[in-house]
Amino acid sequence: MPPGEAGGLSIQSARERWVKRTVISCLVGTAIAACVPPQDGLAADARAGQQKASICMSCHGVDGISGTPLVPNLAGQKEAYLIKALKDYREGRRDNAIMRSMASDLSDGDIADLAAFFADMPRKTK
Ligand code: HEC
Repeated sequence: MPPGEAGGLSIQSARERWVKRTVISCLVGTAIAACVPPQDGLAADARAGQQKASICMSCHGVDGISGTPLVPNLAGQKEAYLIKALKDYREGRRDNAIMRSMASDLSDGDIADLAAFFADMPRKTK
């Protein structure tokens, strides 16, 4: 058996698969955050929120500032408001098909983490 090969699985091909998986996950629109380095100095809930927020960023922007007129900015929004908005979508009190489907699988803990993360982001200054 050539060096670097164990049980038919070479180290080289494992690394290639890892690279491929990473590249693909960075290319997929819903995984944009996988390419964004973790921010330092975030509280634990905000850091957990960042991991859950990759799908949100495809619409709300990687920096929480949306590039689309009818998609609101989330960066720097009040945390309690974000929690309320997400629960309202999840429970149907606020009616929007996109956000209802986004919020339907979120637990209260997910919502708290996401709200902490987006509330911590700097608002647009101009
Ligand atoms: C496919 C695009 C899309 C994705 C993905 C998405 N959103 Fe939204 N989001 C929207 C749109 C459009 C609205 C405005 C809906 C409305 O008019 O009520 C919105 C509204 C919101 C609001 C209300 C903001 C306000 O100012 O009232 C919050 C909070 C929010 N989204 C959070 C999230 C979170 C958290 C995620 C990820 C779990 C997410 N969104 C994923 C499109 C998206």
